[in-house]
Amino acid sequence: DMGGHDTYMHKEIFEQADAVDRVLRGRIDDRFSTVHLGGLNLDAREARQIRRVKILGCGTSYHAGMIGAQMIEELARIPADAEPASEFRYRNAVVDPDTLYIAVSQSGETYDVLAAVQELKRKGARVLGVVNVVGSAIAREADGGMYVHAGPEVCVVSTKCFTNTTVAFALLALHLGRTRDLSVRDGKRIIEGLRKLPAQISEILDQEEEIKKLAAEYAEAHSMLFIGRVRGYPVAREASLKLKEVSYIHAEAYPASELKHGPLALIEPALPTVAIVPNDDLLEKNRAALEEIKARSGRILAVAHQHQEKADQTIVVPKNEDELDPILMGIPLQLLAYHTALALGRDIDKPRNLAKSVTVE
Ligand code: F6R
Repeated sequence: DMGGHDTYMHKEIFEQADAVDRVLRGRIDDRFSTVHLGGLNLDAREARQIRRVKILGCGTSYHAGMIGAQMIEELARIPADAEPASEFRYRNAVVDPDTLYIAVSQSGETYDVLAAVQELKRKGARVLGVVNVVGSAIAREADGGMYVHAGPEVCVVSTKCFTNTTVAFALLALHLGRTRDLSVRDGKRIIEGLRKLPAQISEILDQEEEIKKLAAEYAEAHSMLFIGRVRGYPVAREASLKLKEVSYIHAEAYPASELKHGPLALIEPALPTVAIVPNDDLLEKNRAALEEIKARSGRILAVAHQHQEKADQTIVVPKNEDELDPILMGIPLQLLAYHTALALGRDIDKPRNLAKSVTVE
């Protein structure tokens, strides 16, 4: 049942405010400015012993994991990174007993992720699952974890589950932070930011008509570049994947800081750039990148917290706490991918060559 929407992708994009409400529900502890995550099976002493965090997932779940790693490193000051589970499995990685491994999966059935979890467990590592489908193989195999409560996701491409997974990681980062050196004040600040998310998501989705107009323009592109820096980079990666999957337009994501080391050679009027430009301490750096592109006659669409002069168009999104901004900044680009695909007459809920869960090697 699509509840009045023409596709599941559209329905699921518009369910995101409610979905985020669900992942937050019952977990916030205002008294200690932290969150309760009962299913982690990790007591405070064990949490303090973690020396590193390694997050594993595929596709969109990997991108959510990249955002999660940054949040954990920023809020809990534990070195953290994300890696495609498929790569991790095959490189005979060193498995370290002081590292917390986290497997991320919407379906909980992705074979490469499951195999990574099994290999880790065989070597005695502690593995948590951040999973959407309750009772799925990865959820059962993990030592503990959290459900992201996005609800059933039918469209082959992931939208609401991505958003909920990033929120789940914010909760985990806050929880780990508050077992360590994150102050009560910062804990409160993050909780207030989390509570603002559902209304801010609705505000973004209210801009659908304007985004649809932009999409009509970008549907003519043969290729697009997505750039972002630090917090904006995984957002660019995910937006680029979404556009490729549903519109079949070639897209590439690059760290904005790496432009001058190669991709600038591609810039010309026929290659539009989508730039993630949050109002954080890197704003001036990002503006300089826009200038570099403009000087080479590149067309720019910025996703930012305020109008960007160097961009041809700006989608303005509401500002949250710096650490939580990545949760919101990709949402207008889900709509851009959607409307671009619609303008091109693509089979949005079932893109060619793709399956909802990849249970083979
Ligand atoms: C992207 C997409 C895929 C999945 C990937 C992992 O829109 O649908 O990239 O994200 O196959 O799937 P899960 O999260 O089920 O492990």
